[in-house]
Amino acid sequence: MLAGKCVVLGVTGGIAAYKAVEVASRLRKLGATVFVVMTRAAANFVTPLTFREISGNPVVTSMWDEPKLWNVEHIALATRADLFLIAPATANVIGKLAAGIADDMLTTTVLATKAPVVLAPAMNCNMYLNPVVQANIAKLAGLGYHFLPPDEGPLACGAEGPGRLPDPAVIVDEVAALLGAGGELAGKKVLVTAGPTREAIDPVRYIGNRSSGKMGYAVARAAAARGADVVLVTGPTALTPPPGVRVVAVETAAEMLAAVLAEYDDCAVVVKAAAVADYRPLAPAEHKIKKHGDELTLTLTKTEDILAELGRRKQGQVLVGFAAETRDLAANAGDKLTRKNLDMVVANDVTLPGAGFSGDTNIARLLYRDGRAEELGLMSKEELAGIILQRIYGLLTR
Ligand SMILES: Cc1cc2nc3c(=O)[nH]c(=O)nc-3n(C[C@H](O)[C@H](O)[C@H](O)COP(=O)(O)O)c2cc1C
Repeated sequence: MLAGKCVVLGVTGGIAAYKAVEVASRLRKLGATVFVVMTRAAANFVTPLTFREISGNPVVTSMWDEPKLWNVEHIALATRADLFLIAPATANVIGKLAAGIADDMLTTTVLATKAPVVLAPAMNCNMYLNPVVQANIAKLAGLGYHFLPPDEGPLACGAEGPGRLPDPAVIVDEVAALLGAGGELAGKKVLVTAGPTREAIDPVRYIGNRSSGKMGYAVARAAAARGADVVLVTGPTALTPPPGVRVVAVETAAEMLAAVLAEYDDCAVVVKAAAVADYRPLAPAEHKIKKHGDELTLTLTKTEDILAELGRRKQGQVLVGFAAETRDLAANAGDKLTRKNLDMVVANDVTLPGAGFSGDTNIARLLYRDGRAEELGLMSKEELAGIILQRIYGLLTR
């Protein structure tokens, strides 16, 4: 996917520097030529030797060393880069770039490049949320630098909040999407649904579910990275949509059905990862329901089954559904596959630790129309999304 592309990877002195090794490795596996530029601080966390072996190229750490490749090394690297990625990006390097400071090889090369620059900030959450850091990010973003927002969660320093470097697979997918990699799904329209739906009980309350949207967003990102023309129909989530993806925001099952049908006919692939309500209140109250009496009975009515409708209208599309089950996984998922005329089902037992709605990992079993089943172990939702897209490509080209 990235053959012929040159990515210069800047590594700075954050605890997440070790994850940059996997970033370099994944970029290289996709065919990119990778040059690593490290700050002095970064070399305290991971040795240049590691990056030299992983990238297959000399690693630059200082402006004053004997040039390893070219005479004016920073200009040569700056010119050669198709894309400049700084992962992890410390508060310090973000501040220096925002101020135009060029006091080491990395900042000097970035100032000299005309290639797109992508930064993946990673730091303690208080540092990240510090108004000075936020102002520096806003300034650079305004100047055209791309930012991959950090993940939220437990940080190495013991705090919890935004500041974790995104999964290397996510970083590499975003790089591939920005480089417009002529991927295996180039020219194909892929429709992905994600997140929960909300069905109104009254103007302030709704029936929802625990879906975070992470799996669907990961699938959308992976499809975009493979060159697809991606439409993401999403229920309400707290996630930032991947770049290069067209987003259609919906709330109810009925709105999702309408949005999906409007996009369906020219799709090559549909992946339905959304958790759609099966029932909705029959008659949502016009005004807020007041508290009275010990019990309240809501009458629910069935919503339209979107996947079944797509199965009925199918004209050559590869149709992939998700089955989140709490028991009889194989039987329930297999039944869904045939009943709804699907090509593949991604089934998971949401009661297993590491699988399910809000976490970053999943444990899935892929079931195919021809009766084949593929058991996948515990992996990140990003990795699973990559495998799902590979299998879809297989179904498209069979
Ligand atoms: C153990 C340790 C971990 C650190 N982790 C981070 C981090 O995750 N993010 C960050 O912005 N700075 C972190 N720092 C601070 C940077 O290393 C420091 O600001 C340094 O000057 C960054 O230099 P550089 O931007 O040139 O790489 C850490 C420092 C230490 C000692």
